[in-house]
Formats: sequence, C-alpha cells, structure tokens
Amino acid sequence: MLMKTESEQQTGSQYPESNTFSKQDGVVRKSLVVGCGAYLPENIVTNDDLAQRIDTSDAWIRKRTGIRQRHIAADGELTSDLAAAACKPALESAGVDPEEVDLIVLATSTPDNTFPATATRVQAMLGITRAAAFDVQAVCSGFVYALSVADNMVRLGQANTALVVGAEVFSRILDWEDRGTCVLFGDGAGALVLKSGISEAGANGRGILSTHLFADGTHYDSLYVDGGPGTTGQAGFLRMAGQEVYRHAVHNMAEAVEIALEANELNLPDIDLLVPHQANIRIIESIGRRLSVDSDKVVATVGSQANTSAATIPLALTHAVENGRVKSGDLIAMTALGGGFTWGSSLIRW
Ligand SMILES: CC(C)(COP(=O)(O)OP(=O)(O)OC[C@H]1O[C@@H](n2cnc3c(N)ncnc32)[C@H](O)[C@@H]1OP(=O)(O)O)[C@@H](O)C(=O)NCCC(=O)NCCS
Repeated sequence: MLMKTESEQQTGSQYPESNTFSKQDGVVRKSLVVGCGAYLPENIVTNDDLAQRIDTSDAWIRKRTGIRQRHIAADGELTSDLAAAACKPALESAGVDPEEVDLIVLATSTPDNTFPATATRVQAMLGITRAAAFDVQAVCSGFVYALSVADNMVRLGQANTALVVGAEVFSRILDWEDRGTCVLFGDGAGALVLKSGISEAGANGRGILSTHLFADGTHYDSLYVDGGPGTTGQAGFLRMAGQEVYRHAVHNMAEAVEIALEANELNLPDIDLLVPHQANIRIIESIGRRLSVDSDKVVATVGSQANTSAATIPLALTHAVENGRVKSGDLIAMTALGGGFTWGSSLIRW
C-alpha cells in the first residue's frame, strides 16, 4: 500500500488544494515571481576571436547585430549544468528550500540526451526528490512557453512552488564554418521561481497576469536544425533564413505584447520594463519603437551574451533585477519568437 505524505493527508490528494478563490472575492490565485537567477559559462569568445577563425569582423557583427561577445560552455559542460547553476541562486534569492519545489519546467532545444528530460537531471542535481519535472521545446520562445505551462499549473492548484528554467548550449548545434549563423549565438541559463499566492484580481494585482502563445508551422524551414535527436538519423546544425526570421520577429513579438495588453485592459504607456528575446539589437530596438517604449525601459543584454535561445529572457530579467531596474508594482512585458515559428508574450506585475 502506498503511504500518504503529510500534505496528501492534509489535502486528500497528490496535489495542493485547488483554486477556491474567484474574481467575485476580489482576489485570485496567481503565480508570484519570488526569485530569479542566471548562469553564464566562464569562457568568453569575442568577435575578434571569431574573426581569427572565419571570414568575419567585429565591425560587421556589431553593426548588424549589436553582439560584442558570447559565453561558450566548456567541454563536458552540459545544459543541465548550466540550468542547475542558474536555479541555485534563483532559489536562494527566493528564500525557497529545494525540497519545497514541486514542479520543474525546463525550456531547451539542446537537451543533454534525447531522454530523459534534462529537467529530471537538474532536479537530481538540486537534491529535489519529489516534483514533476519535464522539458518544453519551443526554441527561442521556449521560456515563455515553459512559463505559461508552469503558471497554469500553479493557478489550477496542481503545483505550489515551481522552477521555470531556460537553458541552452547552442554552441553544440552551430556550424562553426557558417559565418551567417555561428556569430549570433551563445550559451547560458536563467531561472525564475514561482509561488502560488493570493493576489488582487485584475492587472494591478501582483503576479503573472497572462501568457499568450502562438505558432505557425508553415515557417518550419526558416529556422531549424537539419538533424539531431529527431528521426532524421543524422547529427545536425542550425540553419536559418536570416531576413525571413528578422521580418517576422519584429512584427510577431510586438503584436504579442499588444495582444497581452489588450487582454489585461492595459495600454502601451503602462509598460515599465520590456524584456524581449535577445536575438539582435536591431530587432530589440524596432520592437521598442513599434511599442513606443522608451529605450531606457528596454532590457538589452544581447551585446555581451548574444542569443542564448530559451535562456535570453530569464537571463535578461535577472540582469535587470540585479541592476535595480525592477521595483515592486512594475509591469514587465516579455516577448519572444523562435523556430517553428513559435512566439508569445507574458505580462508580470512585479
Ligand atoms: C543574420 C543577420 C544579422 C544577417 O544580416 P543581413 O543584413 O540579413 O545580411 P545578409 O544575410 O543579407 O548578408 C549580407 C552579406 O553579409 C555577409 N555575411 C553574413 N554573415 C557575415 C558575417 N558574420 N561576417 C561578415 N559578413 C557576413 C553575407 O555573406 C552577405 O554577403 P554578400 O552580400 O556578399 O552575399 C540578420 O538577417 C538577422 O539578424 N536576422 C535575424 C536572425 C535572428 O535573430 N535569428 C534568431 C531568431 S530567434
């Protein structure tokens, strides 16, 4: 016979108490962001370093992308290592004991192995023995997708304390002979800790206000890996139609933020901080202009970190928090686009 844990005895279920609050009470259950953390590998590769290996230049890369350098994982350093290294400071900043975590959702396109989920290895590395743990794959939108899944589970009462992680070693899927792609990406990880909490209903109450997810698979071939742990039977490299991606990135990311604002009865001037996916400074600036968000309210880390795919948003948000750019009550808008195409947005009242 299975023994029930203390919490199961209290709630009579494997899951925490379900959502019994409604808007009528003026309060609702929301996911509160209670901590964040980041990790970047030690090894830094500058544009000049790349120019010694391929036909490119610091001037070209900076002008077209804003990227100055990227962090590259050491030999043997895996996505799970980066993810766990980001989760530790996230849990510390939240004051959350690893044993409290009952959900880990990890966004990555570069898992350690085809299976099990990298999230389960991260779980073991953190000493967490009782939590649901799985990966989400939506490439550069992966973090917004993972946040959406975790937020829904927390709001439904299926989890109380969640780690949402974006972690990548894109350096392992780059064709280092292809100057059109290899200069754009880097490795890294970031994590948020969510906790179930009772919050004022509506857009003024703290917590995750919404997530909106989209995909259009007719663009599958615009950004993809031509092999890997799928069913194609070959190891692969990232392939990209750069200008096609660029065009959709600006339009879709900006529109996803507009949709999120409308859904929450908010307006563009309400945004205190815009945290867009970090692919290219020109894309970031274009989104800021389209949304009429002042540049000092736009977080840009792409210059020093390049595009770390699913990790860019939690890395950028953690950077902003650590630099005192986020205060209680701020409205944070996050948006991303990635291969698929997949894209989405989330609004958080900090
Ligand atoms: C990749 C990107 C910077 C390329 O800029 P671009 O203005 O479109 O440049 P193009 O691809 O048209 O290439 C222009 C020229 O630069 C060359 N070039 C490409 N990469 C180069 C590099 N690293 N160094 C020097 N020259 C380079 C090309 O070969 C081409 O040369 P040609 O005119 O002699 O044929 C740009 O398309 C982009 O940012 N796209 C979005 C990519 C992205 O964000 N992807 C991830 C989304 S999640």
